[in-house]
Formats: sequence, structure tokens, C-alpha cells
Amino acid sequence: MIRNSLILRNVTFSPALFCAPMSEITHSAFRRLLADFGGYGALFTEMLSARALLKEDPATSPYVKKRPEEGRVIYQILVNGSEPLAAIADRLMAFGADGIDVNGACPSPSIKALRAGAFLFEDEERLAQVLRTLRRCYPGPLTVKIRLGRQRPDWQAQLSRRLKLMEDCGVDALTLHPRFQEEKLKRSARHDLFPWVAAQTRLPVIANGDITGAAILQANPGYFEPTAGIMLGRIAAVQPWVFAQWHQSEPVDYAEVWTRLFRYACEDFTPQKAVFRIKIFTAYYARNFSFGHTLFTQVHNAKTLETIYDTARRFLSAAPQLVPAPSTSGV
Ligand SMILES: Cc1cc2nc3c(=O)[nH]c(=O)nc-3n(C[C@H](O)[C@H](O)[C@H](O)COP(=O)(O)O)c2cc1C
Repeated sequence: MIRNSLILRNVTFSPALFCAPMSEITHSAFRRLLADFGGYGALFTEMLSARALLKEDPATSPYVKKRPEEGRVIYQILVNGSEPLAAIADRLMAFGADGIDVNGACPSPSIKALRAGAFLFEDEERLAQVLRTLRRCYPGPLTVKIRLGRQRPDWQAQLSRRLKLMEDCGVDALTLHPRFQEEKLKRSARHDLFPWVAAQTRLPVIANGDITGAAILQANPGYFEPTAGIMLGRIAAVQPWVFAQWHQSEPVDYAEVWTRLFRYACEDFTPQKAVFRIKIFTAYYARNFSFGHTLFTQVHNAKTLETIYDTARRFLSAAPQLVPAPSTSGV
């Protein structure tokens, strides 16, 4: 069901299985944990303010740092068209990016204020300017992550126009999260729309949204057959081994995996930032357990790294009962 590879501009992503960009989750420490398990074709960074990344030091910054063991990493940028895109592309090449992804999907109010994400996608002229400039400056894989656009009667015509625009601007592939901009993460992703979107464009379409395992694809193979790849988001934070164990689950030491993420976050972040990132990760990881809300609440209320560690270890070392299929809804 997962394609062996997706090749964009002579760069091979194998298998065609990707970890989604997730703000405050897919930082260097989390990607290091995923890399320990492997099984993916590329990891996406969290969305990076294009202007801010010019100032980041790749040796130390958990936002832009890339360890060799991560394999392929695509850097997602948040842009509105006012940035020095040539300098940004140069910088990303220097970081060793295996691709640049433009965030055309994020619908949050703070992103609206920046006129980026889904709001860049709405603005045909600015979108074309950004993509054309990046295409001119960057020879590697250029992708865009999108939603369905705004929920209005002519959304299909609008989306088709954007697909054509992306083709004309030299984009190599797109990721579709089939929810409307207004929906955030509510309702279910509309997997039944993948065939329609794929038929509108010659660009490879990577399918994203509410895909938590092979069973989702097996239930409706026709929805995914025309897509070129699969992208997993929240489930990767719940089960960082999901890529490696896509076809068959194997025993996992849940306490050890959490502890490793804790250690990696402490290595890459200042203590204050590590506290924040570990709490976010734990909110997802807690979904594995029948009484995961206890783990989540206790870690959430802890103030220091020491208390987070002691609290979580106490919960995890007591062999907590697992849920058969963790859900990502509402988290
Ligand atoms: C905490 C969180 C942060 C996210 N940050 C980003 C982001 O930085 N860039 C982006 O394009 N999408 C972002 N997303 C959306 C995901 O990439 C993905 O499209 C969405 O979660 C649906 O996929 P899933 O059901 O597999 O999680 C984020 C989602 C979550 C839950």
C-alpha cells in the first residue's frame, strides 16, 4: 500500500512515507527519536519562520539542526513573500535540506496576522511570487502543504486554479490535508477527495490527515491508490515507532522510549524550553494508555525537569495498561 519511493528532482524518498511538520513537536530531539526507529522516507521540520531561520545556528538550534542519522529532512518554511527568499534558500541548502516545503495550510489566527500559511495560499499573486522566487533560487525538491482552501461553493474551482498555479511555478509535489481552512482539526479528513484532487494535477499528491496506520488505507484502498505518498502527523508523536512498525507491531518498551525523548530534549533545549517540549510530547504519548490522562495531568502540572521525570517514570514503570488502538482525535 505504501509506495517504495517518491523521486523528486533526482532525490529519492524511500519509502514514500513521511512525518508531518508539527510545530513544537518535530524539533531536532523528536526527529532524533524517530531516526532511532527509522522506516520513513523523510521527516519534515516544524514550520520555521523563514526570516528567523537566517539567524539560527545549525550546530546548536533545535529548529534547524539536522543529524546525519535522521536521513532525509525537508524543511518547512512559513513565508508571506516579504522575506529575502534567495538568502533563505541558500541557508537551507547550507543546512543540508533535502527539500523545501512551503506552508500553505496553517489556518491559525497568529498565522493569519502574518499573512502566511493558509492565508498565503488564498492569495494567488503572492503565492505565485513566493513559489517562482524559490524555484529560481533552489534546485532541489520544492513542495507545498495545503488544505482544501476555504469552504465556499466554488472551492473546487479555486483549488483547481491553485493546483495549476503550483504546476506553473515549478513545484514538485504537494501534500494535501483534506480539511477546509475553517475546520482546523475538527471533523474527519476527507480521504474520499484524494482521487479527485490527484486527477486535477500532474503533481504527485502526498496524502495526510487522520492516517493512523495501514488499516486506514486497507479500509478504502481506492481513496489512496492515486496518491504518491502518505504523511503521518499526530500518530507519530503517540507512537514514534509507527513508521518502522507500519506493517507489523512489535513489543515496545514504553518507559524507555519516553525517557529517551526526555533525554534528547534535555540535550537540545534549554531546561525551560525542554520542559515545554516534553509536556507537549507527553500529551500525545499519554494516548497509548488506558489511564493516560493521569500521566498527562501529572506531567502537565509538574514545574521542573526533575519533577516531570520522576512523575512520568513512576507512571510508566508501573506497567500501565495499553489501549489497543490509540486515538489522535482531540489532541
Ligand atoms: C501540534 C500540531 C502542530 C502542527 N504544526 C504544523 C506545522 O508546523 N506545519 C504544517 O504544515 N502543519 C502543521 N500541523 C498539521 C499537521 O502537519 C497535519 O496536517 C495534521 O495534524 C493532520 O495530520 P494527522 O491527522 O496525521 O495528525 C500541525 C498539527 C498539530 C497537531
